[in-house]
Amino acid sequence: MKILILHGPNLNLLGTREPEIYGSMTLGDINSHLLDLAKEFGAELKCLQSNHEGALIDALQDAQTWADGVIFNPGGYTHTSIALRDAIAAMKIPVIEVHLSNVYAREEFRHTSMISGVCKGKITGFGWRSYTLGLRALAEMLEDRNPK
Ligand code: DQA
Repeated sequence: MKILILHGPNLNLLGTREPEIYGSMTLGDINSHLLDLAKEFGAELKCLQSNHEGALIDALQDAQTWADGVIFNPGGYTHTSIALRDAIAAMKIPVIEVHLSNVYAREEFRHTSMISGVCKGKITGFGWRSYTLGLRALAEMLEDRNPK
């Protein structure tokens, strides 16, 4: 089982970026939690971060060629990017949308997601655990599809 963990803009700043909202863990800390959890499922992870919309689209398109699913936090592009939505809509592998913060408890512009409608599901508000919950859900779903 191969999974892409994709982080969008400004998530490289985790640890120092608005820690009262996003927590004190760095992106590296979150990725190592995910790599540990992946061992439970025998899953192989590739973790990527980009501040650029086009690079995120390239990563999604490329994931189609090697991954079984994607965990994606699109950061601020969540609320604006029709291009990311189109990229996900074209994919045949499941994409799970995750957010550290509870976007519905924040500014109104964060209540709209361009991508939720084309994702398999969405987890928001559990801090770094949104990623581990997302990975668990995705891995269990993929296991169901390929029973040993
Ligand atoms: C975020 C929520 C977005 O609204 C924000 O722009 C981010 C991070 C989150 O993980 O809570 O950059 O995706």
